[in-house]
Amino acid sequence: MSSSGNGLVLGIETSCDDTAVALVDAHGTVVASAVASQTAIHQRYGGVYPEAASRAHVDKILPTVRMVIEDSGIDPTELTAIGVTRGPGLIGSLMVGLNTACGLGQGWGVPVVGVNHLRGHLRSADLEERRVRFPAVILLVSGGHTLLARMTDPSDIKLIGNTKDDSVGEAYDKVARMLGLGYPGGPVVDRMAGTGTANIPFPRPMLDQGLDFSFSGLKSAVSRYLAATPDYKQEDVAASFVASCMEVLVTKCRRALESYESESLVIVGGVAASPPLRQAAQELCSALGVDLCLPPLRWSTDNGAMIALATWDYLATGRVMNLEPTPSLNIESF
Ligand code: KG4
Ligand code: ZN
Repeated sequence: MSSSGNGLVLGIETSCDDTAVALVDAHGTVVASAVASQTAIHQRYGGVYPEAASRAHVDKILPTVRMVIEDSGIDPTELTAIGVTRGPGLIGSLMVGLNTACGLGQGWGVPVVGVNHLRGHLRSADLEERRVRFPAVILLVSGGHTLLARMTDPSDIKLIGNTKDDSVGEAYDKVARMLGLGYPGGPVVDRMAGTGTANIPFPRPMLDQGLDFSFSGLKSAVSRYLAATPDYKQEDVAASFVASCMEVLVTKCRRALESYESESLVIVGGVAASPPLRQAAQELCSALGVDLCLPPLRWSTDNGAMIALATWDYLATGRVMNLEPTPSLNIESF
């Protein structure tokens, strides 16, 4: 694998419901980026409809790549590499990205690297400027995952905690649906929580147990409460649900930081955009004297730039050619 070329990697991300493409250099500088969002398509189903997602990726992928190449004015035959998400994600959506990347790579004569989407999220905090001092504890909170990892450098990642069932993003989305607030649930539930009082004692699942998580019981508790309380106040339900999520997330982060000597706490994934989480994490890190590293908001949710930055780690370690679409992939895998 050559690391020659124009010093830029094209990152392609189609694991779920956004067609995202970006050009990034080895320092994490984002030269161009575009996202074709599918939110409007999935909103009417209250969640991601896989078949519609694949079809929308087919429609949007080439125009999105073209937009990024034209915006930057580069010659694509001089790219150092193309990095593309190989998993985890929806099989049909992954296949669109992988097939497109392979075709473009062949046509342009550029190597193609299959990237673990979770490693992309982990690296998103270093986009635009280097923020992360190692060793670090990482909380990855997205629609598909809720986990804690320990990272001593970009290629050394150990899973230290994982969800037993739902992710926190999934719980946000399901509670939003129960409250009739639409999809995606995170931003709207957070906004509504800001106007309510956290006066309902929802459970704090697995609060006293290690570094693993569980959110399906919390989601069911919200559902039972709504069924039993016809005159419930939407904003108080949202505030109480968010308070429960935050207490669990912050308690687990504290436990991880106390168990593993760390310079930084890194929070990545869609739920890292949550204002209450950002605030609670800042208070924790100030108390423990640890850096808090958060990606800029636009790199918290799925994007092509994080896949491109992770691709540079693959090039540096020579782990490059796995292009199999892989719906389930552990964070420690390349
Ligand atoms: O990382 P992401 O874009 O996609 C996956 O890889 O899953 O995360 C999407 C998740 C959704 O569940 C969405 O509700 C949640 O991130 N999310 C938020 C916020 N913005 C997005 N959750 C809480 N607060 C937010 N502001
Ligand atoms: Zn993601």
